[in-house]
Amino acid sequence: MFRRLNFNFICFAFGFGCIFVLLGSKYTNDISFHTSSKNKMEDSENVQVKLKRTHDNFDIETMLNKTRTKIKSELADYSFINSGVSDLEDLLMEFGGTPLRSLVMTTWRSGSTFFGELLDSMPGNYYHYEPFFWYGIKQIRGPPDSFKALKYMEKLMKCDYEGLDEYFDFGKKHEFPVSHTSKLWEHCKTKKELCFDPEFTSKICKLFPFQSMKVVRVRLKLIKQLLDDKELNLKVILLVRDPRGVMQSRQHRSFCQPAPDCWWPELVCADMVSDHVAASRLMQDYPNRIMTLRYEELALDPSKTAYEVLKFLRLDVTKSVKEFLRTHTSVNVAGFDSTFRISRDIPFKWRTSLYFDYVDEVQTACKEAMSLWGYKMAYNATHMASKDFYPMESYTITNRFDNQIPS
Ligand SMILES: *[C@@H]1O[C@H](CO)[C@@H](O)[C@H](O)[C@H]1NC(C)=O
Ligand SMILES: *[C@@H]1O[C@H](CO)[C@@H](O)[C@H](O)[C@H]1NC(C)=O
Repeated sequence: MFRRLNFNFICFAFGFGCIFVLLGSKYTNDISFHTSSKNKMEDSENVQVKLKRTHDNFDIETMLNKTRTKIKSELADYSFINSGVSDLEDLLMEFGGTPLRSLVMTTWRSGSTFFGELLDSMPGNYYHYEPFFWYGIKQIRGPPDSFKALKYMEKLMKCDYEGLDEYFDFGKKHEFPVSHTSKLWEHCKTKKELCFDPEFTSKICKLFPFQSMKVVRVRLKLIKQLLDDKELNLKVILLVRDPRGVMQSRQHRSFCQPAPDCWWPELVCADMVSDHVAASRLMQDYPNRIMTLRYEELALDPSKTAYEVLKFLRLDVTKSVKEFLRTHTSVNVAGFDSTFRISRDIPFKWRTSLYFDYVDEVQTACKEAMSLWGYKMAYNATHMASKDFYPMESYTITNRFDNQIPS
């Protein structure tokens, strides 16, 4: 009895946290709270807990079964030959298969929301939405932070959610990283705590043959170890955007301005240079595992670009993908704040909405990055607004051995 009173007192003190523990104990394996009770109610309580758990496990089994069936039926017409395997089971972790995994690496306001949702419109795709919100508005460019970040990415992509405390703690408070993982969230609408339970999330995640992840806080040069991991069998897309467009878009985001990594053009563009160098090197060392993509190409010709990307990822263009492109690429009715539509108006909007003085400042800090990625300078305000000025040209990812190969 004293134990129980004590517990209630602690509960009062910790408020919601405790409610969480209570709810949590209904379905997790951790029933120590119930079993430690030493009064004579013990037996009947235990029986009830067991019944409850059996019931919950049954519910979870049913959910998993339903998801399995749904994935199977949605992929009934899917051509697995394009994905390099003979059937679905070859891509399923529970049958010892390896899912097709794709990682989209980018930075804030570079079109990754649209891009992520495009990949998520594939049936059978499990979308690991940006996992590093808890890290703040900062870039991870090297040790020590990169050790943890890469471990996190590896674990998530392997559907191993044990020990990802920061991820779940942030999720419990803010929901959105977890709620964007749509295939998980649909199971948690009525029972939210399920989505923060490592055992359940791991189980759901493992059912999916395609796994995608986007990160905006980790730079490309760090990911060698993920490419080396044979078990991951990972393909990577680096998504970049004209720094003038990036900065224009970030002006409307309050999270950005206090954070140098987001708001200082010299830092933003140093990352673009570093990503270019890394892409060259990694493309050499891991042929056909890295693709670079400019946001503007996606916005100007979404279908063509999307098809190229899917081909690179060994994904078939499904009806659902076509439908996504049809419904998300029409005229942008939502204005600048639109997060999931893409249209031809957006990429060059900076030309009319930024002052030339600011553009000039960005261009000065971004000279090298712009030249590497094929973005042309505007010389003055007239030039910037002129119809004859097209801000893009082609770019190359230079092969670092180019100079040594005799032609
Ligand atoms: C889930 O599916 C398995 C295999 O088809 C079956 O044996 C089991 O009874 C099902 N469980 C529930 C709760 O539906
Ligand atoms: C702006 O730049 C263009 C291209 O270099 C040049 O031809 C033009 O004279 C400049 N205009 C002004 C007002 O400086």
